[in-house]
Amino acid sequence: MQQTKRILVTGGAGFLGSFLCERLLGEGHEVICVDNFFTGSRRNVSHLLDNRSFEIIRHDVTFPLYVEVDEIYNLACPASPVHYQDDPVQTTKTSVHGAINMLGLAKRVRAKILQASTSEVYGDPEIHPQTERYWGRVNPIGPRACYDEGKRCAETLFFDYWRQHRLRIKIARIFNTYGPRMRPDDGRVVSNFIVQALQNEPITVYGTGQQTRSFCYVDDLIDGLVRMMQTGDDVIGPINLGNPVEFTMLELANLVIEITGSRSRISLLPLPIDDPRQRQPDIGTALRELNWEPRTTLRDGLVKTIAYFEGLVSSGYLRPAAAE
Ligand SMILES: NC(=O)c1ccc[n+]([C@@H]2O[C@H](COP(=O)([O-])OP(=O)(O)OC[C@H]3O[C@@H](n4cnc5c(N)ncnc54)[C@H](O)[C@@H]3O)[C@@H](O)[C@H]2O)c1
Repeated sequence: MQQTKRILVTGGAGFLGSFLCERLLGEGHEVICVDNFFTGSRRNVSHLLDNRSFEIIRHDVTFPLYVEVDEIYNLACPASPVHYQDDPVQTTKTSVHGAINMLGLAKRVRAKILQASTSEVYGDPEIHPQTERYWGRVNPIGPRACYDEGKRCAETLFFDYWRQHRLRIKIARIFNTYGPRMRPDDGRVVSNFIVQALQNEPITVYGTGQQTRSFCYVDDLIDGLVRMMQTGDDVIGPINLGNPVEFTMLELANLVIEITGSRSRISLLPLPIDDPRQRQPDIGTALRELNWEPRTTLRDGLVKTIAYFEGLVSSGYLRPAAAE
């Protein structure tokens, strides 16, 4: 039987964090969810509040935290450009001070700690697909730098705590992940397209729509994070977690239109600054070290995600499509 652990999930009321809390509770662990509710919400974890093994604390990770735990998943950080660019100084602080505080906590209580890093550490890459050995091509002074460089610095801190203090660390580099509980207003491509399609509004595709992304369904991603935490101390990463199957933005838009049965048309807009043209994970390390690869097809994942957004429309949280 698996041993019950006390596990801290920072950013636990966010999109990924809420699924992670759910998964860990399901495995019989005690979960402390820490969140300042900047982009997350109680609503994401409301179904867990009655669980006696679940505790939620309103706290900003840029300040120190004192709790007794066995493992820490450090997910606190706004992940979508609209939110991380809203207060870029706070974004860098969340990544950097947040990492220092959580690493300090892990050191004090001798906890294992996993960092939710990102494919953004590769910036606008010159190699495809990206392997973990690639050092990236990031603009350090652009509008995305608060997030990209904050996450890069967090990785540096994790490695320094490992080298200097022999802390048990894990770094997962997460690629685009989607699923239920994404915020309708977060400007991420999957949620954007779904909301536009459900409202029969034009689907806004940037550039020519030929730039590609790979999309990982949330359940697959959470499984990868948990597997990584369960590895021995020699597995520290970084390990790419994402779906290597690439789709162009136009293909994604057309699939969303088809599944929702929407009357939306596609509208092409200028490409934002520093928007990467292509991103695709090489997941060879995850396959080897974690025996992990995504299982959910884009169509299956979209069907579940669209059902969630349809629920938001029927509950009045999202505006329904205008009548013809
Ligand atoms: N979803 C993706 O595609 C993706 C891709 C790469 C990396 N990631 C990483 O995974 C993590 C979770 O992302 P997500 O998609 O669930 O985003 P999210 O915005 O839904 O979740 C982030 C959570 O962190 C909380 N938070 C933000 N600043 C905080 C602070 N200072 N103190 C405490 N809590 C704070 C937010 O309120 C939110 O609940 C992030 O670290 C993100 O960088 C996500």
